[in-house]
Amino acid sequence: MQLRSVCLFLFVQINLIAAFHHHEKRGAETNATLYAYGADAPAWPIAYGVDDGRLYISEDPSNNDANLVPLTWDLASITGENWIANATFVNGTTAGSMYFLEDEDYAVGVLPLPRLANVKGTVTGFALFASQLVYNNDTLLQAQFWASSTDVDDVYGLTWTLDDGSPNGDFPVVVKASEDL
Ligand SMILES: *[C@@H]1O[C@H](CO)[C@@H](O)[C@H](O)[C@H]1NC(C)=O
Ligand SMILES: *[C@@H]1O[C@H](CO)[C@@H](O)[C@H](O)[C@H]1NC(C)=O
Ligand SMILES: *[C@@H]1O[C@H](CO)[C@@H](O)[C@H](O)[C@H]1NC(C)=O
Ligand SMILES: *[C@@H]1O[C@H](CO)[C@@H](O)[C@H](O)[C@H]1NC(C)=O
Repeated sequence: MQLRSVCLFLFVQINLIAAFHHHEKRGAETNATLYAYGADAPAWPIAYGVDDGRLYISEDPSNNDANLVPLTWDLASITGENWIANATFVNGTTAGSMYFLEDEDYAVGVLPLPRLANVKGTVTGFALFASQLVYNNDTLLQAQFWASSTDVDDVYGLTWTLDDGSPNGDFPVVVKASEDL
């Protein structure tokens, strides 16, 4: 399958100082869809796993076998002030904010902020650099999302990979937002 025929690309680490030379406050998006791009692969949307609140990459964001539903996102630009990425279900109900779960191999998920207070996760720091979703670790902008295969064919879990060279997943993906794909 296509998403798999992927070789590694280098982690994108964009120097924060260079990034802030983009002065204009552009690039924030509302009601956007997030897509994951593997190398030489079509973009697949990022969906919400109803069973566990984690994010999954699937060609069909309503995949029944994996119990997925689509999400739309409100995303800040890196020149914005509040770097919390918020997701909404198709029916307009708030799904929550993006986070990584440090204790669970840095799985990327979505939870309402009050519930996030109870888990050891990281919620702030996600914003758009141009249309690409990056994470600000206080020093650098990082884009270290990986796709991790699941029990369901062609459905991948979205994870984050640390800098220590051991990937949390099968292959890296670039995550981009689009308001009108
Ligand atoms: C968000 O986008 C969807 C699909 O393009 C559209 O149906 C919906 O009305 C939009 N919602 C808002 C609040 O703009
Ligand atoms: C996400 O929600 C939080 C809490 O309501 C809010 O402070 C933040 O500005 C929102 N982020 C975006 C990009 O709208
Ligand atoms: C909206 O959709 C989500 C996901 O399918 C569901 O969990 C939630 O209960 C729905 N909310 C309403 C008010 O129907
Ligand atoms: C951010 O990432 C860089 C590069 O891996 C690392 O040197 C630095 O310690 C990190 N900063 C924080 C606050 O995690």
